[in-house]
Amino acid sequence: MSTLTFANNDEMPALGLGTWKSAPGDVKQAIIHAIEIGYRHLDCAAIYENEQEIGEALAECFDKGMVTRKELWITSKLWNDAHKKEDVRPALEKTLADLKLDYLDLYLIHWPVAFKSGVKFPQKTDGFLPLSAVSLTETWHAMEALKREGLVKHIGMSNFSQKKLQHLIDLGGQKPEMNQIELHPYLQQQELIDFCHANDIHVTAYSPLGSMDRPAVFKKAGEPIPLENETILSIAKANQMTPAQVLIRWQLQRGISVIPKSTNPKRLKENFEALNIELSDAQMTEIAKLDQGKRIIDGSLFVAPDQGYTLENLWDE
Ligand code: A2P
Repeated sequence: MSTLTFANNDEMPALGLGTWKSAPGDVKQAIIHAIEIGYRHLDCAAIYENEQEIGEALAECFDKGMVTRKELWITSKLWNDAHKKEDVRPALEKTLADLKLDYLDLYLIHWPVAFKSGVKFPQKTDGFLPLSAVSLTETWHAMEALKREGLVKHIGMSNFSQKKLQHLIDLGGQKPEMNQIELHPYLQQQELIDFCHANDIHVTAYSPLGSMDRPAVFKKAGEPIPLENETILSIAKANQMTPAQVLIRWQLQRGISVIPKSTNPKRLKENFEALNIELSDAQMTEIAKLDQGKRIIDGSLFVAPDQGYTLENLWDE
């Protein structure tokens, strides 16, 4: 299986299973199916509100001897309401209790945005905490402590710009080890990927299939659909692959991890088989031409100018 290697030689399977939008009721069976198929990397987050059920699936897989804890790579993410140094450890402990695990392989700061304690999504801007009140440095130091304690093997972030990563690198402590970002042919972010790789930060692609099942709040009329792109369809046809396999394989061949979400047994298997196919250099170049710099998750949910949060300073673009 294709893997990404960390500084201490830990290996993360490059192809993982995304669980954002995997509904309680579906996700348990999906995890069991995925492990049967051969998935060994699961991407979770507290805010997906399904970690308890994922924990039940994991316990069942361990009990039945389908897989051992050591054979799995499990990632989760710190939600925005737990950025204060005293809130970070309890948030991880809740995730570990829900997942029924005693450590995570990777723990990520989900967004470079802080909310007041207990606020999942602020209804008004007073639910935000400005970064002057709880800085990313403070949160990062608390993440470093979790790693030192062995509660998490690796630490990183999601949705961080080059500028924010550089700031944390400049602190001179534990370097960020992973940046998980939105990536698909319409949002390729090659410059940010190059920066991460030059600084030994791995990259994971979220929403690699275009997250068509995303909530309405993330949808805008007329948005293009990567799975229906003509170039993707013609490459799929030429290689006897499916469009989803092309989108997944393209990320793997860029040297990054990719976490397509599915709860459907047939599509779980189809996506996993992207490990065994190959795109030519010419096909990789053709896909590289599709970039439009277009975000699906554009961050507008996290705008609160009176608290210092704008789209400009979220993405630093
Ligand atoms: P489902 O869970 O019913 O399979 P993303 O990973 O970009 O967030 O995209 C997830 C969406 O893509 C879900 O709607 C998921 O539906 C769908 N999906 C997953 N795998 C495939 C596939 N192989 N072909 C088409 N759609 C897929």
